Amino acid sequence: MSIDPLEYYRPEEWGKFIAFAAKHETPFLMVNLDIVRKNFEELRELFPFAKIYYAVKANPAVEVLELLRDLGSCFDVASVYELDKLLSIGVSPDRMSYGNTIKKSRDIAYFYEKGVRMYVNDNIDDLRNIAREAPGSKVFFRILTEGAETADWPLSRKFGCHPDMVYELIGEAKRLGLEPYGASFHVGSQQRDIGAWDSAIAKMRYLFDGAEEQGVKLKMINMGGGFPANYISKTSPRELYASEITRYLSEDFGDEHPEIILEPGRSLVAEAGVMVTEVVMVSQKSFHSLDKWVYIDAGKFNGLIETWDEALRYPIYCDRIGEDSEDFIIAGPTCDSQDIMYEYFRNPLPMNIRAGDRLFWLTTGAYTSSYCSVDFNGFPPLKTYIIK
Ligand SMILES: Cc1ncc(COP(=O)(O)O)c(C=O)c1O
Repeated sequence: MSIDPLEYYRPEEWGKFIAFAAKHETPFLMVNLDIVRKNFEELRELFPFAKIYYAVKANPAVEVLELLRDLGSCFDVASVYELDKLLSIGVSPDRMSYGNTIKKSRDIAYFYEKGVRMYVNDNIDDLRNIAREAPGSKVFFRILTEGAETADWPLSRKFGCHPDMVYELIGEAKRLGLEPYGASFHVGSQQRDIGAWDSAIAKMRYLFDGAEEQGVKLKMINMGGGFPANYISKTSPRELYASEITRYLSEDFGDEHPEIILEPGRSLVAEAGVMVTEVVMVSQKSFHSLDKWVYIDAGKFNGLIETWDEALRYPIYCDRIGEDSEDFIIAGPTCDSQDIMYEYFRNPLPMNIRAGDRLFWLTTGAYTSSYCSVDFNGFPPLKTYIIK
């Protein structure tokens, strides 16, 4: 069964994408700011008690950042480059947190000089660097979480540390003159199991109690991202995520829970984006092979890297309509054998698909344009067009 774009977009939204796409040469990404706005407002309604720190890395287009700035969002910042970009559009440093656990000493100093006073931490060397370069700042401690198996794009293992280690870091932060402010987790991006938040919040309770034993009252929980967007494999509705997560919070912390921060990326921008690509070639590798290959003009290195291990399954719509469909292997244009998006997850495309046909990749507003190579095989980074 081919994809019906109207299962993903309202007719007027889809109409806008199609009309805009017809006038531009592929490959490119279109981002509809109205959908970003709708997602932001919806999240704010679902979590009225939370502060939203948009994870800039998901889609750092200036227009997206300006919109979120005007809607009152704060920002989770991963590098000095993201920081400079936000400063250049007038976001004040008290609306930012340096949310990357991996940071150079001199980058911490730069953030501090620019006025940022909130830093994530998960290890002692980094904590000492923060104490030296950003004296007196607020620090929140990231814990390891479960949930890797049920997230499409897991983020555990590399970030965070065991709560027992956080316990030590809290005491050390206090001794170093920092303000141990809170704790954070990220249950993995596109997390399908809402229960992943339950166990993470329970760990927060354990940590808050442990901190109090050391005379430290933590004030904030940063629940990261992980909220879903609409891809091929469906998730529960976001309303259910919100009501369950709110229930977990009140079970562990009562109604007077600490300040809550969310760091959404994917759930705000993914659905706002549609990537348009063109078929370069269709082929078979032998006369009797059952596999048919479709090569298109953008691949893993031009915005579709989250198809790595076929992790994210984008809905793909082909503009050749009215014909029977068949499964195809879909690959990118570079001379790299890794540049195959889907080999095992088969995509129904029109049987007679041919060079020049267009494939529309729905729900591609997150982690596409920001994830491109700049010159691999000479291909330039993916162009982003903003649709208002
Ligand atoms: C620290 C941090 N916060 C938030 C996010 C955004 O997560 P998501 O896109 O799942 O909302 C990420 C994603 O990598 C992250 O690293």
